[in-house]
Amino acid sequence: MKLFDVYPLFPIEPVKAAGSWLWSRDGKKYLDLYGGHAVISIGHNHPHFVQRLKNQLDKISFYSNSVKNSLQEEFAEKLGKLSGYPDYELFLCNSGAEANENALKLASFVTGRKKVIAFKKSFHGRTSGAVAATDNPKIVAPFNANHEIEFLPFNDLNATNEKINNSVAAVIIEGIQGVGGIHVASNSFLELLSKKCKEVGALLILDEVQSGYGRSGKFFAHQYSNAKPDLISVAKGMGNGFPIGGVLINPTIKPWSGMLGTTFGGNYLSCAAGLSVLEVIESENLMVNALAVGNYWMDELKKLEAIKEVRGLGLMIGFDLPEEFSSLRKDLLFNNHIFTGEAKPNTVRLLPSLALKKSEADILLEALSIHLKAVV
Ligand SMILES: Cc1ncc(COP(=O)(O)O)c(C=O)c1O
Repeated sequence: MKLFDVYPLFPIEPVKAAGSWLWSRDGKKYLDLYGGHAVISIGHNHPHFVQRLKNQLDKISFYSNSVKNSLQEEFAEKLGKLSGYPDYELFLCNSGAEANENALKLASFVTGRKKVIAFKKSFHGRTSGAVAATDNPKIVAPFNANHEIEFLPFNDLNATNEKINNSVAAVIIEGIQGVGGIHVASNSFLELLSKKCKEVGALLILDEVQSGYGRSGKFFAHQYSNAKPDLISVAKGMGNGFPIGGVLINPTIKPWSGMLGTTFGGNYLSCAAGLSVLEVIESENLMVNALAVGNYWMDELKKLEAIKEVRGLGLMIGFDLPEEFSSLRKDLLFNNHIFTGEAKPNTVRLLPSLALKKSEADILLEALSIHLKAVV
């Protein structure tokens, strides 16, 4: 059987990884400044992550959600404490799209409404409701297109004031837009969304799948503002590569038996992975590191003349390049062995491990100072 060919592939096969580094099958060493799409939060193969998973495998790896699972309770307790949402409740699933799908479903159950407000350049995943709330018609199949979604301009306070009314079930927004090119939601915008949702009885869903888990320097990017979401979706950095997602749910939302469900969500291995991530974020002060290295990086990137704009918070950074540098990402990968990400048409995205060292950040700056001089 051949693989269904949906991904353009780089001719590189990583076979080993540690911290911010990858080694390919042909023995080359790469600096990973993309974290496999913002997934590697505490560093590749962190020894504590590896040990916790190995220990769990020796005990029990799976049973269904019809039995008590203390590891889930321990995980929820720790996540509540570290995230600043100790009174919220946790629903566990397996991916970011699934987290958003469940959050949208919850909002619709609670309000009895269907309409969802999303934003231009948004990305929320590829399941039915999540992809419908994603501003990219190319990936929305006719089957997904029947949801009632309205896209408003991002960070536009007037449109928000006008369009959020009592027909709306949910407003879904990324704390920092990732796939759309690293656009930070302003505090006043998030606070207005929070206020308007309360006024009209809609639920505010903060998609922190990419921007959450300490990446911005706070546990959640929206915590730079006073906005209080009803639902917060998480995944990616949550498991440092182990598939896990979740929805943090305002305790005023009351569950009923069977309201949501999952076979694999909250399984022992994912909870062990999730706990190890939280333990390392705490013990190694990774949020402080993300903010310090991120601020340093952004200041230095802004000094490079060829770069048009630098955006972001902590270690979620994007910078725009003029057309003549369109080959930069490939040059970095094949000449300097540095993985970065992109957003169309010309944004380079940096989403490394939260444990990235300043000396590792400097490797990119040195490479850029050479490449960005090369073309005039
Ligand atoms: C903000 C955001 N939400 C949701 C998703 C979907 O996550 P997953 O690919 O785990 O389904 C992504 C993935 O890139 C994302 O960036």
